[in-house]
Amino acid sequence: MAERQATAKPRHDISIIRPEVRAEQIKLRGEGHSPERLESIRKGLRALHTLELMAQTIYRFQITKERSEMNGMLVAAMCNEMGHHQDFQVKLYEYGFRPSLLRWAYWLVGFAFGVGSRLLGRRAVLKTGIWVESKAVHHYAQLLATIDWDDETRRVIEKDQADEDGHIGRWKSMLTAAAPVPADA
Ligand SMILES: [Fe+2]
Ligand SMILES: [Fe+2]
Repeated sequence: MAERQATAKPRHDISIIRPEVRAEQIKLRGEGHSPERLESIRKGLRALHTLELMAQTIYRFQITKERSEMNGMLVAAMCNEMGHHQDFQVKLYEYGFRPSLLRWAYWLVGFAFGVGSRLLGRRAVLKTGIWVESKAVHHYAQLLATIDWDDETRRVIEKDQADEDGHIGRWKSMLTAAAPVPADA
C-alpha cells in the first residue's frame, strides 16, 4: 500500500473541529515507559496544554459582536482550540500528570494578543492568527520529532497540528481577499 508517510503529513479531516471521543478510548498510559520517556512526554503535554489555552483565549477575545463571516470563523477556531486544550488535558491525566500551575500566564498572554489585535482591526486579527499559528505548527513539529509518543497520542497531536495548518490557510486567504486590489492588476 502506498502510504506516504515520509514527507507528506498524514491526512486529517480538518472540517471536523471537535472529533468524537468514546469512553473506551480513555485509558491510563505510560505503563512500562522509562522515566526519561515519561518526563519528555510530561513536558511536551504541559507545553501543548498551556499553548492551547493561549490559542483559545486569543480567538475568544478577537470575536466582536458584529454578525459577520469573520466572527463565525473565529468562533469555529475557538471551538477547535478548546478541543485541542481538552485533548492535552485528557492526555495529561491519562498519564498521571497534572497541568502546569503557571498556565494562567498563558491565559493573560492570550487575552493581551486577543484584545490588542481586536482593537487594531481585522487585518491585525488575521496577522496575529497567522503569526501565532505558524509558531504553533513549528512547535508541534519539534515535539513530534523529539518525543517518543504512544501511537494514539501522536495521532491526536498530528490532527491538532493539521488543524493549526488549516487555520493559517484560512487566515491567509482572508487576508488576501481583504487586500486592496491594485489598479491594472
Ligand atoms: Fe490548537
Ligand atoms: Fe489553531
